[in-house]
Amino acid sequence: MHPNARSDEPDPRSPHVRIIEVSPRDGLQNEPGIIPTDDKVAFVNALSRTGVGEIEVGSFVSPVAVPQLADTDEVFRKIERVPGVIYSALVPNERGLERARAVSAQKIAVFTAASETFTQRNIKATIRESLERFRPVVAGAKRDGMVVRGYVSTAVFCPYEGRIAPTRVTEVMKRLLDLGADEISLGDTIGKAAPADVRRLLDAALPCLSRDRLSLHFHDTYGMAVANALTAWWEYGVEAFDSSAGGLGGCPYAPGASGNVATEDLVYALKASGATVPVNEIQVVAAARRLVRHLSRGLTSRLSALTIGTECRVGDQEP
Ligand code: HMG
Ligand code: MG
Repeated sequence: MHPNARSDEPDPRSPHVRIIEVSPRDGLQNEPGIIPTDDKVAFVNALSRTGVGEIEVGSFVSPVAVPQLADTDEVFRKIERVPGVIYSALVPNERGLERARAVSAQKIAVFTAASETFTQRNIKATIRESLERFRPVVAGAKRDGMVVRGYVSTAVFCPYEGRIAPTRVTEVMKRLLDLGADEISLGDTIGKAAPADVRRLLDAALPCLSRDRLSLHFHDTYGMAVANALTAWWEYGVEAFDSSAGGLGGCPYAPGASGNVATEDLVYALKASGATVPVNEIQVVAAARRLVRHLSRGLTSRLSALTIGTECRVGDQEP
């Protein structure tokens, strides 16, 4: 329980935690090389069978901005969709929405940030302009029955502006909710946040939306991501986390940012702490391994190192 919480307050924690697997998008957007489409398809298909409830398959952004994901349309067309799994993609504008619609994506994510400089570098707009750009996108997506996620990047630190005040994050978050976003993902884009920062952020953010509409998106540059997620779940009852198989990831517009928290390490930590997470972390490692020969670096997760050359049995975790 948070030290500031009153002892007569109900325990906020739900035992059930959802994982949003972002590696095919956040993981692969930062690779220097372009991974063959069929390997991406096999990767998404393998992830679909790990138990994750949602997979961010790619981005319908400008192919000049992110050539690594220019084939997202084809990946969507070729994957085998497992019933119950949500397949989503990043969409920056109406052109992106058309592409998402053409492949019957169930969910889209619009993305902006709490820092002006990052927003300008990432999507060539001010925060205000980005939100205006999203207005018809969110409305159109909802008309078509799609679920809409709104990302707020640089929610704790910006690579250009340094520390970001939580009030700047909540302002952007509220605007996204006003536009009609169903859920919000707050991103520690450069992976520098520590649990004390997470508490400050959640103290500001949670009064603005219900917990089941919030996801946290931790990168792991400083090795704090698992601690941050456990803090958010244990002390504040946050129920959803974005993570990436093998710890793949980064943002091409956030220099020095490392990968997302590895799904397998996060799932292990959550289960070991008493959460119910319907994801098989060993299958997640196996899915990430399929891609290794195409990657510029190896997998960074603790579990992937542990399971090399073994029967992949880790502790007493149930699949
Ligand atoms: P712009 O250059 O201002 O856009 O880019 P534009 O409208 O002038 O278009 C430029 C060219 O791109 C045109 O082509 C458009 O047709 C094309 P041309 O006429 O020159 O041949 N274009 C498109 N093509 C296909 N699909 C589209 C599309 N839009 C334009 N949707 C824009 C503005 C936002 C489009 C561009 O900057 C962009 O695509 N940026 C994406 C950047 C990106 O993907 N960043 C990484 C994701 S964010 C992230 O990683 C953080 C996150 O993980 C959370 C966290 O960690 O905090 C989510
Ligand atoms: Mg990210």
